Formats: sequence, C-alpha cells, structure tokens
Amino acid sequence: MNPTPLPLQAPASARAARYADVERAIRALCDGETDAIAVMATVVCELHHAFDYFDWTGFYRVVAPGQLAVGPYQGTHGCLRIPFDRGVCGAAARTGRTQLVPDVSAFPGHIACSSTTRSEIVVPVRAPSGRLVAVLDVDSDAPSAFTDVDREWLERIAAIVGALYD
Ligand code: SME
Repeated sequence: MNPTPLPLQAPASARAARYADVERAIRALCDGETDAIAVMATVVCELHHAFDYFDWTGFYRVVAPGQLAVGPYQGTHGCLRIPFDRGVCGAAARTGRTQLVPDVSAFPGHIACSSTTRSEIVVPVRAPSGRLVAVLDVDSDAPSAFTDVDREWLERIAAIVGALYD
C-alpha cells in the first residue's frame, strides 16, 4: 500500500526518511529479481507515488552508442529517444554526472516532454564495471523541487538497477 505522497514542503529529514522507506520497499519487492526492466518498473512505481512533487518518473536506457531510449516510466507520455547531445538526460549520459536543474527554462537544450515541467533531476545508472546503462529522470511541475537529499537517494536507488548489469 503506497503511503500518502510526501509534500514538497516536508522537511529534509522527512524526505530522507521517505526515501529510506522506498529503498526498503524496492529491495523487498525485487528480492531475487534479475530482470532489469522488471526492477526499473518497480522502482519508478514506488518512487512516483511516494513524492507529491514527482510528476514524471522514468528511465532512459542506453540502446546504442550515444542513444537513449525510454524505459519504464510513470506520468504523461515521454519522448521515446534522446541522443546524448540533447536535453538534461543527454547531459547526464554524456558527463556521467547527476544533473540537478532548479529551472528547466534556464537549461540549454532542455527537452520539454510536458509544458508544465519546472525543475528536473537526472541520475546516471552505472553497471558495477562503471559502464553507463541508463539514466533515471524525475520531472517536477514545482520550481527548484529537488535538493541534495534527492540527489543522494536517487543515486543510491539507481545503483540497485545498475547492479543488475554486467
Ligand atoms: N526533460 C528531459 C526529457 C525527458 S521528458 O522530460 C520525460 C530532457 O531534457 O532530457
């Protein structure tokens, strides 16, 4: 049973506690699961319904050199393909660094899958070898929605998916 989504205004301690609950739930639900798509689908479901300010939550997978394709997601339709030289997702894939964007309108080349998106965070997903296998993208209709608490915990949760790859 998903708890009531945590409001944007909740204190950092409550945000961190909710992420800890989500991580525990993901690990319990996915215990023994080796299929990455199944785990991705579970991750985005648990994350999306846990936070009121998550308006689009999804993965983009590396499907060819320099090319991302949409994976499991929650929210309105997402674009299907993103090259590494475009968008916030492309920047995360290209640099290998989390992109924490307080104002998407100020991000050069932002791809607006929804006109209501105001802020975004995109986290690289890496295999144990360090190989980039996907990015985890979260959009919010609230400006400056994401903080270092989101960065830390989304990177932790992304590593759960990354561990499934060679
Ligand atoms: N905003 C992303 C594109 C994906 S849609 O938001 C789901 C970007 O700029 O890469």
